[in-house]
Amino acid sequence: MEGRILVKDRYFVPYIPYERLEKAIDAVAERINHDFKHFNGTPIILCVLNGSILFTGELMKRLTFPCEFSSIRLSSYEGTLSTGVTRKVLGLTSSIKGRTVIVVEDIVDTGKTITDLHALLLDAGAADVKICTMLLKPDVYKKDLKLDYVAMEIENRFIVGFGLDYDQLGRNYKDIYILDNSVEKTAMKHFLIFGPPGAGKGTQAAKIIDRFGLRHVSTGDLLRREIAAGTPLGLQAKTLIDKGELVPDSVVEGMIASELDNNPDAKGFIFDGFPRTTAQAEHLDAMLSARGEKINAVISLMIPDETVFERIRHRAEIENRVDDTKPEIIRNRIDTYHAKTEPVIAFYKGKGVYREIDGLGTIDEVFGKVSALLDEYLPA
Ligand code: IMP
Ligand code: MG
Repeated sequence: MEGRILVKDRYFVPYIPYERLEKAIDAVAERINHDFKHFNGTPIILCVLNGSILFTGELMKRLTFPCEFSSIRLSSYEGTLSTGVTRKVLGLTSSIKGRTVIVVEDIVDTGKTITDLHALLLDAGAADVKICTMLLKPDVYKKDLKLDYVAMEIENRFIVGFGLDYDQLGRNYKDIYILDNSVEKTAMKHFLIFGPPGAGKGTQAAKIIDRFGLRHVSTGDLLRREIAAGTPLGLQAKTLIDKGELVPDSVVEGMIASELDNNPDAKGFIFDGFPRTTAQAEHLDAMLSARGEKINAVISLMIPDETVFERIRHRAEIENRVDDTKPEIIRNRIDTYHAKTEPVIAFYKGKGVYREIDGLGTIDEVFGKVSALLDEYLPA
């Protein structure tokens, strides 16, 4: 069982290991088997989606009497039935008229869901309705409806795993985890560093991570790391790069998502070289907002095109890159930069997070201005 896990924007800690669930499911299945051993007919095992999917699977493979399977989902749709119940059943896969139904639920909390469903099933003509729930929070359950089979009782705390979700996430964990109230997760603060070639992005980013404890994310570095490590993603990227093709957005975004997942304790990220297009900017936005986070500021290092020109040519001379000393090639790089980044800049201007910094001056002079800006977001 893993230690602390991050589901969306919250930490959860181990609560019920799978082995204990298995034992509780063994016991409840044995009781059901005992009760239905001499049953005259074929009951329907009714899985209440989505939460009960794992529990129903585990339970059914332990049942030893003839039974059928069906599943339903309850919508929050407001339609009135004869019972006054205001929920709608979606996708009941077989007729339950005159049948005995064993409802399989993941968890009963206040009991609202299960009492609604019980009434709905009788309304639809079920002859008898039995309730089986994996978990019950007895401190909150306020209804009179008898719960025939309860595998395990738990305290009134929020849990995830083994089918149970937090905002649709966390269902896939095999064990059950409980919300860790001891850590109030503070949202990370993310920044972009922007600027034409030669503006000193790399230099400033290095000083920023040193001073502010942000994680530097350069998509170029990430790709090279995946390729060097020979991961499936790296191999896919390498094949594309070798063919002279661009690595698709989804790959780059996947790498960034795993950087975010693997560094839950970082104060935030400083993105460098990404996003390059408005589509990427929109994806990044969606990815961060799913975590309750956002780009707090875009730091744009501004230097005049003439300075870019001189710096690129100077660098090319020092590094002896003959191609880069040709004026038309340098002009082309500068034009490409403007054409590509202008829409991304417009995107962030629209969100009110775009901040320009004069990139002329010594490294320390520029860093003084960058620091003053970041201090607004990350006070010491
Ligand atoms: P009730 O109608 O208050 O009994 O709530 C039952 C439903 O709430 C369950 O089917 C779950 O979808 C959800 N639920 C209640 N408690 C938890 C929990 O601790 N974790 C995840 N979902 C829960
Ligand atoms: Mg549920």
